[in-house]
Amino acid sequence: MKVLNYGSLNYDYVYEVDHINQPGETQSCVRRNVFCGGKGLNQSVALARAGVSVYQGGLTGEDGQMFLEVCRENGIDTSCLGRVEGPSGHAVIQLDRSGENCILIYGGANQSQTREWMDKTLDHFGEGDLLLLQNEVNGLDYLIDQAYAKGMVIVLNPSPWDDKLKACDLKKVSVFLINEVEGGQITGEQEPERILDKMQQLYPDAQTVLTLGSKGAIWQGRGQRVRQKAYKVDVVDTTAAGDTFTGYFIAGMTEHMPVEENMRRAARASAIAVSRMGAAPSIPALSEVER
Ligand code: RIB
Repeated sequence: MKVLNYGSLNYDYVYEVDHINQPGETQSCVRRNVFCGGKGLNQSVALARAGVSVYQGGLTGEDGQMFLEVCRENGIDTSCLGRVEGPSGHAVIQLDRSGENCILIYGGANQSQTREWMDKTLDHFGEGDLLLLQNEVNGLDYLIDQAYAKGMVIVLNPSPWDDKLKACDLKKVSVFLINEVEGGQITGEQEPERILDKMQQLYPDAQTVLTLGSKGAIWQGRGQRVRQKAYKVDVVDTTAAGDTFTGYFIAGMTEHMPVEENMRRAARASAIAVSRMGAAPSIPALSEVER
């Protein structure tokens, strides 16, 4: 099984602040750092660090050299990663003293996917291969339809949720990875168990992983639920916590790891990620997670 992660690559401009700005407020930041991130790249890094051979699909801009270096350092295949004129995607992240964040995304090259490029990428994959998607690139509806027609297994982290997802045939998705906010947006429910009940009703053949931050995560599939607690750590930066969980969980799926063990390992990886600064750089290697 080949794994294609078709998704975003962002430069993350991280501004450390006392508190997240209120409307109309101006605040000086303590420090600024620039990291490689983007939900797509972060999840590829997590997959690669968990030991999976992964292809990164998508587009960078003319300034995308650092992304290629991160991919090379992590053994991520970039043969499906194109380059277009103009800037790459970036994110402006306010990071407060407690490690909570607030993110604003500029799509850049991530929003320049063409059908031609998506087709060219999917040509390298076929039945039984896995396609991982997030919602930071355009063309998700097309990618889902084309990949499904090929018999690929579609895994969707519909983050950030927006109205474009309404154009996607989500019945073609085999695995959803969502947080409480996205769960609420998809199902109209607020309470975790009810979100899962509704997911079961709407997508009876799919698995769902609902992440709940400090309250852990719940997996649902084959008529069962498995609950996983969150590990307690000193939180430095929550950016990419969900991406780390997603990458590690999918890695476990490709290894046919029992769900309980897979959830435990993904929760450990994600706990390590929040104890460190940055998105892609904070994602732990498998050896650290096992230790
Ligand atoms: O999930 C975290 C990521 O969201 C950041 O790296 C940022 O780029 C945004 O895409």
